[in-house]
Amino acid sequence: MRRPEILFDDSLHAVHLTNGVISYIIQVVDGRYLVHRYFGPALRRWHGGGQPVYFKRGYNTCHEECSVPNVSFDDFPFEYPARSRGDFRIPAVEAEADGVRHTQLDFVSWRALEEKPALEGLPAAFAAPGESATLEITLSDPAAGLTVRLYYTLFAGLGIVARHQVAENTGSRPLTLHNLQSASLELPALPWEMLILYGTHAKEANGQRFPLHHGIQRIESVRGSSSPQHQPFFALLSPDVTADRGLAVGFHLVYSGNFLAQAELDQFGMVRAQIGLHPEGFAWQLMPGERFTSPEAILNCTTGGLNGLRQNFHQLYLHHLMPPRFAEAERPILLNSWESMYYDVTLSKIERQAELARQLGVELFVLDDGWFRKGNSSRDSMGDWRCNLRKLPGGIPAAARIVHGKGMKFGLWFEPEAVTADSDLFRQHPDWVLQTPGYSMTQGRHEYLLDLSRPEVVDYLFDVLDGYLQKSGIDYIKWDMNRPLTDFCSLAPGARQGETAHRYVLGLYRLLERITTAYPRLLIEGCSSGGARFDPGMLYYVAQNWTSDNTDGHDRLAIQAGYSLLYPPVAMGAHVSITPNHQTGRVTPLDTRWQAARLFNLGYELDLTLLTPEELADLAGQIAQRKAERRWVQSSRFFTLDLPGPYTGWAAVARDGSRCLVQVFQTRYDPLFAHTPVRLSFLDRDGLYRDAASGQLYGGDELATLGLTAPLIKQDDAATVWELIREPG
Ligand code: GLA
Repeated sequence: MRRPEILFDDSLHAVHLTNGVISYIIQVVDGRYLVHRYFGPALRRWHGGGQPVYFKRGYNTCHEECSVPNVSFDDFPFEYPARSRGDFRIPAVEAEADGVRHTQLDFVSWRALEEKPALEGLPAAFAAPGESATLEITLSDPAAGLTVRLYYTLFAGLGIVARHQVAENTGSRPLTLHNLQSASLELPALPWEMLILYGTHAKEANGQRFPLHHGIQRIESVRGSSSPQHQPFFALLSPDVTADRGLAVGFHLVYSGNFLAQAELDQFGMVRAQIGLHPEGFAWQLMPGERFTSPEAILNCTTGGLNGLRQNFHQLYLHHLMPPRFAEAERPILLNSWESMYYDVTLSKIERQAELARQLGVELFVLDDGWFRKGNSSRDSMGDWRCNLRKLPGGIPAAARIVHGKGMKFGLWFEPEAVTADSDLFRQHPDWVLQTPGYSMTQGRHEYLLDLSRPEVVDYLFDVLDGYLQKSGIDYIKWDMNRPLTDFCSLAPGARQGETAHRYVLGLYRLLERITTAYPRLLIEGCSSGGARFDPGMLYYVAQNWTSDNTDGHDRLAIQAGYSLLYPPVAMGAHVSITPNHQTGRVTPLDTRWQAARLFNLGYELDLTLLTPEELADLAGQIAQRKAERRWVQSSRFFTLDLPGPYTGWAAVARDGSRCLVQVFQTRYDPLFAHTPVRLSFLDRDGLYRDAASGQLYGGDELATLGLTAPLIKQDDAATVWELIREPG
């Protein structure tokens, strides 16, 4: 695999970042303007091609001394644009000094860095020595006293550039930073389409694809967390993009709070795309000598269509973002108590469920919400984290002992950031809660949110969790967060409210950093009413995330396929639940519910005492199957299939190419789709594959072009599975 390189070209005053997969090219014009030249499939060398030709136009601006004939700043591909000179498109940076908002950044210097820089207080991709190369560019606005350093990291073998910026007050006056986007990218005039993943609670990650129109298209979160409404992601696609082919450029933000992601199609057909912290309400004070670091953005470029984007994101997140200890570790098969007990947890129920789980081969029992509540609802006790000893005599250690006694690991649910009005914590420290003086407080699920921008709140939460982790025999935590932020207002003395939203996220990261450093073996599953805070920022700390509160096997197909564009299946919790499903009322065959979860992080979330002996035997079979295939499935490459109408499907290909599991789901019976080919273009075309069930042999080229044929089954939500084994030679 070719090492990433940073190639400086003094004659063109250009720099070319390449790893043999992609190239990223930047040029300095007139010794001062930093302009973007190229981001795309790798070039051997850049000779200056692809530069726009400008012609004389009215109603525009430029510096008199600019040497580019007829250029206007409103049409110049600035690498990191500010608005003030007359580039009226979306700006990446905006600072204010003495009430004046005027920012003009000029080139100062650039250099290559050997090591991937860490981001102060923020999660970010990492790389072992030799696996990455980083470019640092320094820009400055001497009049404002602002210096901005841009960082670009390439990784060996991946079509990925990680970007972030550090702004520094190098002047003598206080500055207020209103905007510092994590990435800005100029794209050539092509008929781009935009792809987003939108959704809501219990129906996350729905893909929508549409042509860019002139003007700005944006998605965002102003909900304090990344939210189920939009992933902090979008992609720009050439219109011919399919599952397996076509030019695609993806953007993803390693951040768990307010974000803005946008693309502007200008009057000439050029596109500027950006992703970063949401500027709305953001005002960060920078005193002389102080620095501010933006979150990291991941740029992903492929000619391999959606599965090409998928492979780049998955490899990056598996090997350069999620906790390395868990990237390869086999994840335990769990039973979660939520849909069987809800808040009404007792030791005898735990004993009964855990005993059945043991017999089936389950490895981890998770006690969800309810264990600390006075009653059986979400109304009280949040924040104190004292076990209700009437529900669980002997407390959490007693519950853990029962589970450990059956040879299983024990997991516990927390929602550290939340507090209810009916709690000692709220009575003692009302000022620890985010709230806006003079206004009534808003509740979400009867909860308020603790002010994580306050270090004493982070200390309190660390002590609570640390107390449990030291004494109670906890092997796993489900870390939930069940409401959006509304009051971005801290009562901490001297708090600057334009910083509160971001400081909340920084406090959360500090808490996660402390817990994961103190307990490196602790498996944490992130959750936020399902996928409301499923983002790369959280993935840096928590190796898996509860994908959605919707456990319906039918709905899960779309939700998991949507998320799989970004996250490897091992990062997604997928549970087999009871039927009719508690969220949707749908009845789905048990086999389909299992097949829908099989290639993901498998768990069960149902009352095992309600199952028939036959169903329990089926579960035991599934769990045995999972254990047999877990190692290769967990580390496999995951692809979705381009299928028509009522079909969805995906496949896992072992990392060494030796086997492949293909799953096709027929969500409804429809005779119009009697001859649906299932083309497997990601297999080795020169390979020979044997269908494990029938013994039939197929060439890789046959599977890519003719494909397998999905059978038409007289049933809704039917699953068909093929296991293909590669023949030697
Ligand atoms: C959230 C989670 C659920 C469950 C409940 C408990 O909704 O997403 O899985 O843990 O909270 O209150």
